[in-house]
Amino acid sequence: MRMYDIIVKKRDGGELTKQEIEFFIEGYTNGDIPDYQAAALTMAIYFQGMTQEETAILTQAMVDSGETIDLSAIKGHKVDKHSTGGVGDKITFIVGPLVASVGVPVAKMSGRGLGHTGGTLDKLESIRGLEIEMEKDQFIKNVNEHKLAVAGQTGNLAPADKKLYALRDVIGTVDSLPLIAGSIMSKKLASGADSIVLDVKTGSGAFMKTLEDSEALAREMVNIGNNLGRNTVAVISDMNQPLGFEVGNANEIKEAAEILQGKKVEDLRKLSLEIASHMTVLAEVFSNYEEAYQTLEQNLENGKAFAAFRKFVQAQHGDVSMIDDLSQLPSAAHDIEVKTEQGGFVSEIDAESIGVAAMYLGAGRATKDDQINHGVGITLKKKIGDEVKAGEALVVLHSDEEHPDTSIEKVKQAYTISSNKVDAPTLIHKVIK
Ligand code: URA
Repeated sequence: MRMYDIIVKKRDGGELTKQEIEFFIEGYTNGDIPDYQAAALTMAIYFQGMTQEETAILTQAMVDSGETIDLSAIKGHKVDKHSTGGVGDKITFIVGPLVASVGVPVAKMSGRGLGHTGGTLDKLESIRGLEIEMEKDQFIKNVNEHKLAVAGQTGNLAPADKKLYALRDVIGTVDSLPLIAGSIMSKKLASGADSIVLDVKTGSGAFMKTLEDSEALAREMVNIGNNLGRNTVAVISDMNQPLGFEVGNANEIKEAAEILQGKKVEDLRKLSLEIASHMTVLAEVFSNYEEAYQTLEQNLENGKAFAAFRKFVQAQHGDVSMIDDLSQLPSAAHDIEVKTEQGGFVSEIDAESIGVAAMYLGAGRATKDDQINHGVGITLKKKIGDEVKAGEALVVLHSDEEHPDTSIEKVKQAYTISSNKVDAPTLIHKVIK
C-alpha cells in the first residue's frame, strides 16, 4: 500500500477502506509517513469529508494507537462528560458532585488550558493543597469510595490524535467535522467510561459558530460513540456569551460551589441539571429524564451535592476550609469596574474577547510555560438582554495590576449595547441521542 494512492483517492472523493485508514494512522504514529503526506491527506479530508463509517474507523484506529484506561475495577456504570469548550464553563465542578450524589461513579481525566482561562485542573488548583496527580490505584480507590475523582491525564492516550491535531493546527485543517469528531471521541473512548454525555457549544464563543454546524458535529460524535459501543448523548448549548457570571479560576470554583449550595444562577444551574440528568439516565439510576432532573434538583437544595463536592476536595487533599468559607479562595489586589458610557440593552457579549481579557489579567496562559494567577478574573454584571444605564458597570475586573488597560479595552469591545430590548439567548438548543 502506498500513502500516495490513499491521498489521491481521497482527493478525488473516494471512500477509504479500513486497511487504508489503519495504514495511515499506524504509519503516521510510528514516523513512517512524513508530515507532508499526512498534511495532504487531512487537507483532502477537509474538502471531501468522510462517511460515517470512515470516521468511525479513523476514531478506532486513533484509540488503538496508544493505551486505553481500564476502569473495570470501579464498581457501577461509569459516565463521562466532555465539553467542546467555552468561556466561564465550570459545569464539570457542578455536574461531577451532582452525579456522584446519586451514586453514579465519575472518573474524570482532565487537562490544563492553553488560551483564555485555565483548564479544569488549573481551576481546581485554586483550592490550596488539592492534588490532581495520583497513581491509578488511588484514582480508582477515590472513585469507589467517593464516586468522584478528577486527575491529570496519564498514560499515552490516542498518540495518533496528539500528533495529527498538532499538525492540523498549523496547516488550517482543524475545523473539519470528521477530524474534530474523531479527535475528541478517540480521547473519550480511550478514557474508558461506559457512557458519554457531550456538551457541544454553539455560538460566537464556540468552535462551531452556527447551530447547523454544531448539530452536525454532535450527530457525528454521537454516531461514533454509539457505533463503538458507548451510549452517547449530546446536548447542544449556547455559547453566545460566557456561562454564569464568573470567568477565571478561583472565582469560577466559587460560583460552582454556590450552585452546589442551591444558588440560582439560571443558565449554569439549568445546564448542569440537564447534563447531569442525561448522565444518570445513561447510568440507569433513573428510568427517565424527568425523574432524574427532579431528584438532582433536590440534591442541590438539600446539601447532598455540596457534601459530595466537599468529600471530593478532602479526598484529593484540598483545604476544605476554603470551600466552607469561599472568601478564603485566592483573590486579586484590585476590583476595577468597567463602565458603559451608553445606556440601552446588552445585545451581544463576545465571549472570546472576555476570555482574552481574563487571560491578560493572568487567568490563562498565552504560552505553555506561563503561570496561572488563580485570584484574578472577571465578574460579569450584565448579560445579554439586561438593561444598562450610562455610567453603570458592565463587569468588575479582579486584577493584581492597578491599571489593566488591555483587559479594560477588550471588555469594552466585547459588549454591544443597543437601544432595543433583546431577549436572552436560548440556552439548550437540542439534545441528540
Ligand atoms: N478538540 C479536540 O480535542 N480536537 C479537535 O480536533 C478539536 C477540538
